[in-house]
Amino acid sequence: MEGLRGPSDYSQEPTRHPSLRINAKTPFNAEATRDDLIASYITPVDFFFKRNHGPIPIIDDINSYYVSVGGLLENPKQLSLADIKKLPKYNVTATLQCAGNRRTEMSKTRTVRGVGWDVAAVSNAIWGGAKLADVLELVGISNHTAVTPSGGKHVEFISVDNCVEEHGGPYKASIPLDQATNPAADVLLAYEMNGEVINRDHGYPLRVVVPGVIGARSVKWLDRIDIIEEECQGFFMQKDYKMFPPTVDWDNIIWSTRKPQMDFPVQSAICSFKDEDVVKQGKVTIAGYAVSGGGRGIERVDISVDGGKTWLEAHRFQKTDVPYVSGDTSSDKWAWVFFKAAVEISGDAEIIAKAVDSSANVQPESIGAIWNLRGILNTSWHHICLQVA
Ligand code: MTE
Repeated sequence: MEGLRGPSDYSQEPTRHPSLRINAKTPFNAEATRDDLIASYITPVDFFFKRNHGPIPIIDDINSYYVSVGGLLENPKQLSLADIKKLPKYNVTATLQCAGNRRTEMSKTRTVRGVGWDVAAVSNAIWGGAKLADVLELVGISNHTAVTPSGGKHVEFISVDNCVEEHGGPYKASIPLDQATNPAADVLLAYEMNGEVINRDHGYPLRVVVPGVIGARSVKWLDRIDIIEEECQGFFMQKDYKMFPPTVDWDNIIWSTRKPQMDFPVQSAICSFKDEDVVKQGKVTIAGYAVSGGGRGIERVDISVDGGKTWLEAHRFQKTDVPYVSGDTSSDKWAWVFFKAAVEISGDAEIIAKAVDSSANVQPESIGAIWNLRGILNTSWHHICLQVA
């Protein structure tokens, strides 16, 4: 593609909101404060977490931008943004969550490697764009295809950014073809975010959005789509974003023994307080988010104010005045749910949140049980210790 290039240094980065918490400057990785994160169900673009592995690419000329669709195909095509915009446009409300969300907390149990994140490497947006299933129809692959006649089973997305992990090569990832060609999976090639042209930080001019799957598969600044036989062999599929057991460390890891992580498990976090906050005795409101992968809804969020001895159920909601019912057509199936509970605090208290999804999956109690060397998927019960003034 001619219109998009990935700079090799950080001299042309976009301007970002000053209240973001910066976890790494180059590449730029930042998250909203807990208060900003739960201030609105749809995360404003400024507060949406930013997760990068290289400098932000630049578009020189949108008219010469196109996506090449090729690989194991009879008729490869180059699609301009106008070609993609001619397809029916869908608006999908979907929460992206980085697999490294809550990594800092995991590192306190035993050190893990990776950019540290508090609880806001997760955000919710309305993504506008074409369905990947429709784009693949343009190159002759029908809906619900698991294998093409030439043996294609995966769809690979390739970007243009320069990633150190790829020795200066671009970020890439893949998803299975049957997910890509399933219109109900809502995989998008998005050119809009919250009703506006998607900005540079989030993938301008075109990014993939794979709802319900860890953010690492939602490739930004899309350059090429290839139909391939085996899953993508890139660093971020094969040597990263895999969940290993607690017994595996850097001296005994064999990357090929695990599959790349796709769906994320059930997660929740308290955002109305942080550890060691001081409150007055009496009523306090515990608020935060809960989300699960694979389109599973949130069935329950349990809150404890006594370190897990007793529990009460929090109120769940997505949109004001619309009751949230997991699995209901009025609910956003790919999006997080906010929760709130008014609780009575009489002395120093250990507050816990744990969510249960629509398949009755429950967050694990301890970090120890899910500790992994890269610190991914810390979905353990979220604890906050409050002190009473
Ligand atoms: N795509 C490209 N090209 N380069 C990247 O570094 N990071 C991935 C994914 N897509 C990445 C990418 C990761 S790990 C995540 S969590 C999401 O983008 C973050 O998307 P966001 O920055 O829009 O929040």
